[in-house]
Amino acid sequence: MPRSSAPVEGRGRCVRTSHTKKHERIERMSGISPTENARVALLTGAGSPRGIGRATADQLVRDGWNVAILDIDGEAAQRAADELQSQAPNDNKVVGVRVDVSDPTSVDDAVAEVEHALPPITALANLAGISSPTSFLEISSKEWDRVLAVNLTGAFFVSQRVVRGMIDRRYGRIVNISSISAQRGGGTYSKVAYSASKAGLLGFTRALAREVGEFGVTVNAVAPGPIDTDIMGGTLTASRKAELSEGTIMGRIGTPFDVAALVCFLFGESAGYITAATYDVNGGLQIS
Ligand SMILES: NC(=O)c1ccc[n+]([C@@H]2O[C@H](COP(=O)([O-])OP(=O)(O)OC[C@H]3O[C@@H](n4cnc5c(N)ncnc54)[C@H](O)[C@@H]3O)[C@@H](O)[C@H]2O)c1
Repeated sequence: MPRSSAPVEGRGRCVRTSHTKKHERIERMSGISPTENARVALLTGAGSPRGIGRATADQLVRDGWNVAILDIDGEAAQRAADELQSQAPNDNKVVGVRVDVSDPTSVDDAVAEVEHALPPITALANLAGISSPTSFLEISSKEWDRVLAVNLTGAFFVSQRVVRGMIDRRYGRIVNISSISAQRGGGTYSKVAYSASKAGLLGFTRALAREVGEFGVTVNAVAPGPIDTDIMGGTLTASRKAELSEGTIMGRIGTPFDVAALVCFLFGESAGYITAATYDVNGGLQIS
């Protein structure tokens, strides 16, 4: 992509234009020059090859973004980065870094590594998450704490570490991956702890959006329904997919790319007036 071009949203993926007037308008609205260096995304929980984070990384790299893939499985993160680097269309860079989002020291170290390797981070997606199919009367305080630590406190640690730079530069995009479980109280696979953590992310999103909006930083939540990844106890069988698709208007479960398209849109410069929103990506399951 030529350095003077900027991403704008279109048909679910980021497309580019070299029209100078449009650049000037975007610059005025967003407070930054829409250069290639402004497109630097950090994705937590993007190491899994069949996950939503990986699908998001795929699309962003194709669209010319610099991408940092962070995951507790450091080897998977590195493998994903190596694969995507070889497909990067321009001189955009991809790095893979190990992180445990529930550990603030690990988060600080990982983000420092990204800051060393890439230009300043302009977009963050908090995707790292774990499921919890344990029912209320059975769940231990240890499991409860771990689910909340990864799914909710992890987003707090990573966002706080990254948002300071966004505030300084007066520009940023943060997307938190919640879940339809937050709205419906589970019902797909995970139960109380997961639903509570994902509901917590919705309040977190809105409150953070209030605090950072004046600095040009948007914060939004995405609440997927059942998506064909391995988080619900392993790779889904055909019969499990059929079961999970019941109640959706679209008659199927989602793909990681269905969610990635929305994250990519919310990362775009043209999404600068969208903040504190929660987007459903669930094939219509929310009205069943
Ligand atoms: N798949 C679905 O049906 C669905 C639905 C709603 C929401 N979500 C959410 O989407 C996000 C992505 O999940 P996915 O479906 O792609 O599953 P996934 O298991 O492929 O991805 C989750 C990733 O998080 C990583 N991770 C776990 N603990 C971590 C930690 N402490 N630090 C850093 N990384 C860690 C895992 O290694 C994994 O790569 C999760 O937050 C999940 O809760 C998924």
